[in-house]
Amino acid sequence: MKKKSLCYLANWKMYFSYNTEILFFKDHQKDFLDLAHKAELILFPSFLNIAYFSKESSQSTLKIGAQNISDHKQGAFTGQLSAQSLKECGAFATIVGHSECREVNKENDELIFEKIKESLGAGLLPVLCIGESLKEYEQNQSIIRITKQLTHLKILKNDPLFNTKKYELFIAYEPLFAIGSGVTASIDHIQLMLQEIEKIVLSFELDFITFRILYGGSVSSTCIKELKEISLLDGFLIGKSSINFAEFKKIIDS
Ligand code: PGA
Repeated sequence: MKKKSLCYLANWKMYFSYNTEILFFKDHQKDFLDLAHKAELILFPSFLNIAYFSKESSQSTLKIGAQNISDHKQGAFTGQLSAQSLKECGAFATIVGHSECREVNKENDELIFEKIKESLGAGLLPVLCIGESLKEYEQNQSIIRITKQLTHLKILKNDPLFNTKKYELFIAYEPLFAIGSGVTASIDHIQLMLQEIEKIVLSFELDFITFRILYGGSVSSTCIKELKEISLLDGFLIGKSSINFAEFKKIIDS
């Protein structure tokens, strides 16, 4: 089952320091709340501010998410944060498998699948990021790559822990060459990839999961109108453009 609704996810990465992130949030708190009335909005600040921002937004439709979670529940995992802890801090969602985490932390598809299960189990909405590298794109390997990145999801179908409840999953298609580069993938290519993603996930027959497909990678006010024309698209995962409030608002309002 696929549900239609446009949403905007702001990935603030490590762009701010602790203090400057709070200042940015406080400066625009009312604006964010207003925007969250118009569109579904999830902010992904640093871990340090999740509890505070969640508390500040608790009476509103604005939601706060985590940029990553541990693939474990608890134990001797120095420097990690569990899905349950983040849920208790007020997080609504978590990004998993972002290409920067795949690259820097050497996260692979098996580990990312564990994170998806942790996230679903704790009641967090997983935002699974997938996408091919420039080399894979140039060698016509894009579909092979995303198929591999999605394949573990089918295991959920036979997992009694999950297949008896209803869940939501976001899948963000983020080609690596578009992230932070200032250049989005072509509309035709995005369209093709979204069709493939939908086809692959539907083939898993995960009737207990409602999924939405987002695009991420250099989303800006310049290209947003064109991107919004893509009918399969349910929303956007936005990095750099989300730390400039005027630009972010323009993207939503366009
Ligand atoms: P970008 O980042 O918008 O700065 O390209 C997107 C992302 O990494 O999620």
